[in-house]
Amino acid sequence: MSLKNNNPTKTIAWGKLNNHFREIKNKKISKYFDENSNRNNELTIKWKDFYVDFSKNRLEKKTINLFTELLKEIDLKDSIDKYFNGDKINKTENRAVLHTALRAENNSSLKLDGVDLQSKIKSAKNKIKRFSDSIISGSKKGYTNKSFTDIVNIGIGGSDLGPSMVVDSLKFYKNHLNTHFVSNVDGDHVNEIIKTLDPETTLFVIVSKTFTTQETLSNATTIRNWFLKKAKQEDVSKHFIAVSTNLEKVISFGIEKDNIFPMWDWVGGRFSLWSAVGITISLSTGFNNFEKLLKGANEMDVHFKEAEFDKNIPIILACIGVWYNNFYNCESESVITYSQYLNQFAAYLQQASMESNGKSVDRNGEKVSYSTGQIVWGEPGTNSQHAFFQLIHQGTKLIPTDFIGFAQSLHGNKDHQNKLISNFIAQTEALMNGKTLSEVKESNNDSFTTPFKVFEGNKPTNTILIDKLTPRSLGKLIALYEHKIFVQGVIWNIFSYDQFGVELGKKLANTILEDIQSNFSYDHDKSTNNLISHYKAKNTD
Ligand code: F6P
Repeated sequence: MSLKNNNPTKTIAWGKLNNHFREIKNKKISKYFDENSNRNNELTIKWKDFYVDFSKNRLEKKTINLFTELLKEIDLKDSIDKYFNGDKINKTENRAVLHTALRAENNSSLKLDGVDLQSKIKSAKNKIKRFSDSIISGSKKGYTNKSFTDIVNIGIGGSDLGPSMVVDSLKFYKNHLNTHFVSNVDGDHVNEIIKTLDPETTLFVIVSKTFTTQETLSNATTIRNWFLKKAKQEDVSKHFIAVSTNLEKVISFGIEKDNIFPMWDWVGGRFSLWSAVGITISLSTGFNNFEKLLKGANEMDVHFKEAEFDKNIPIILACIGVWYNNFYNCESESVITYSQYLNQFAAYLQQASMESNGKSVDRNGEKVSYSTGQIVWGEPGTNSQHAFFQLIHQGTKLIPTDFIGFAQSLHGNKDHQNKLISNFIAQTEALMNGKTLSEVKESNNDSFTTPFKVFEGNKPTNTILIDKLTPRSLGKLIALYEHKIFVQGVIWNIFSYDQFGVELGKKLANTILEDIQSNFSYDHDKSTNNLISHYKAKNTD
């Protein structure tokens, strides 16, 4: 069964939210705190090792209650059940969306089209474990009988961003293997990576759900040719493995059947790091840590399924996002991670969120009359404070921001950690309170510069403070955002799990490639024709 079909703006609750918005839109967040000494408790969720404070927002408990009414009116519960039960909620591709099954408890049973998924998942996990154990321990060797030292993940989009972000985020837990990621079809990317590698000790993991992606196949072919400059054809099986749904294509590329790890059409690329797509995670940190990551995600799944709407972290963050997107008309939201380990988190989230909810046709097939997916962006703090925070503090745009931080550092340097977290907390305080004209005047005698030093404040933030960055807490954090994306897609009445928007560019790139490679005349618009001619004239080496 597919998801229900409701235009959110036509619901009774949306109407109430509109009226409520008119009443409170200009109210200062700081004023709410003056009026209600219990605000912080009302608008904070403490769950396991997560402390989620959403009190520094331009909303009140009533706002959350009205959103809860909306979620009941559109029957979010029914959507959640369909999501977890394997209904084909990816209707435009006629697929289930079951990345949650990959991290479900081993004893849970789930059938899809009559086939038991748990046994498939279990056998894939066993294969990942056996394989990563053998590489990490050195029992599996390369073609000259040396142990492996380096792993190269060849993939793009969901076959790159998730594993790459997690491997980087869990660098503290890594073993002796060095992992590299080749994604861009830019030949300089692959060449920069292979120039440092020894083919005798490098394992290549080709990750492509479809095994038709131009970037991945070009990079895999270049790497195989480079490998074959030293090794022989029969050595390929010792150094190349693949993760894909497309067995035929993988085999015709020359990968042995035993070296193929499964992927399934009920797992979307951007939600696939929990499957064998995450094999680099298991190789880099050990299977045990990979399992902890899955376990953490499963804990968030259970919380999402079971917690009341108004105490449910993904649901609350989703509603707050909709509040700013559809009522305050904010175009973007930023995510600032106060951990250098989470350097790639925003990039990962950009695909997860924007490829999912960057849609403008509703579930009726009609153009939506309201705004959908936000632009997501961000960088780690404190670096970003010295880059784009100026605009968040004093620019003309309202940019709701998620602050993500960890109470404990991994290397235990308290001095640095205190400084980092002071910044983390201070920014949310400054964004909320700002600095008034009279406050500026108190410390500034120069009347000319006074207006430039005023901070309006009232800038909304969510603070997610987690005890410590571990595989398990990272699993929870990623799953939190996955479910936020799901809930927003449900509210916006769109299909979040297809990605037709990336197809046109791919097709046209192939046409232009033919034009570049042939001597025939080409027939595009004038700008495109001239660009092709200019490139051909300049690409002389
Ligand atoms: O470009 C879009 C996309 O289809 C993503 O959704 C996907 O993660 C990526 O390409 C890679 O696809 P594949 O795993 O099939 O190579």
